[in-house]
Amino acid sequence: AAGATFPEELYMDAMFAYQFVDPTVSMSYLPTGSGGGKNRIMLGDKMKDDGFGPPFNIDFAGSDSLLKPDQYAQYPDLQMYPSVAGAVVPIYNIPELEARSLDLILTPATVAMIFSGQIKYWNDSAIYNDNVAGGNQVGAEVLKKLQAAITVFVRNEDSGTTEIWKKSLAGASTFFSKQIGTSSKPVWNSTARYEYRDENNGVASGVLATDYSIGYSVLGVA
Ligand SMILES: *[C@@H]1O[C@H](CO)[C@@H](O)[C@H](O)[C@H]1NC(C)=O
Ligand SMILES: *[C@@H]1O[C@H](CO)[C@@H](O)[C@H](O)[C@H]1NC(C)=O
Repeated sequence: AAGATFPEELYMDAMFAYQFVDPTVSMSYLPTGSGGGKNRIMLGDKMKDDGFGPPFNIDFAGSDSLLKPDQYAQYPDLQMYPSVAGAVVPIYNIPELEARSLDLILTPATVAMIFSGQIKYWNDSAIYNDNVAGGNQVGAEVLKKLQAAITVFVRNEDSGTTEIWKKSLAGASTFFSKQIGTSSKPVWNSTARYEYRDENNGVASGVLATDYSIGYSVLGVA
């Protein structure tokens, strides 16, 4: 099997547990991202190597994004089943807040403005206002003094996590919806200062290593 990194931990645990049920069954799950899983299950070894290598012929794929109606029509023996529920969450790194154990409060509309390049600095008044409104006055004053540019970490590969994240922000902001859209691909049509990383772990470690950055990942990795 191959596909989304979102359910990877769960599938790894399930495969481990299944060895106690039937040790003759050998299983593996290659975390390629949802796009890689869908390409493998649809195209098999007719697909172009996406950099993750074999296996190309797989028995099941994990995907956070749905098959499109034309894909269902083209591969009528393919079915999707819900297997796991989870959350995609924002992750950020602001040393001045961390040092004083202060929260960062952002409305979805403000997060959308950050990810679409409308807000470029942590001292932005929208960020200040969210924190005041959320009762985080001390944090708001700390943020207001930060002249730091926001580095925005996003996924480098075709990713269902990206699609979930974009759909959520598109629901909070018409500008985001029109300008960025909801594609699972690493397409971010704006002047935000983006950094691209592979997989949830790549985005999370990028944020961890970069002061004044923000990104998104599945809750388990956050
Ligand atoms: C925020 O910081 C930037 C970068 O130093 C600066 O250009 C801008 O004027 C600041 N904005 C406010 C509202 O202080
Ligand atoms: C990027 O946004 C601009 C302004 O909305 C638009 O004209 C352009 O077509 C967009 N480009 C892509 C690749 O979506």
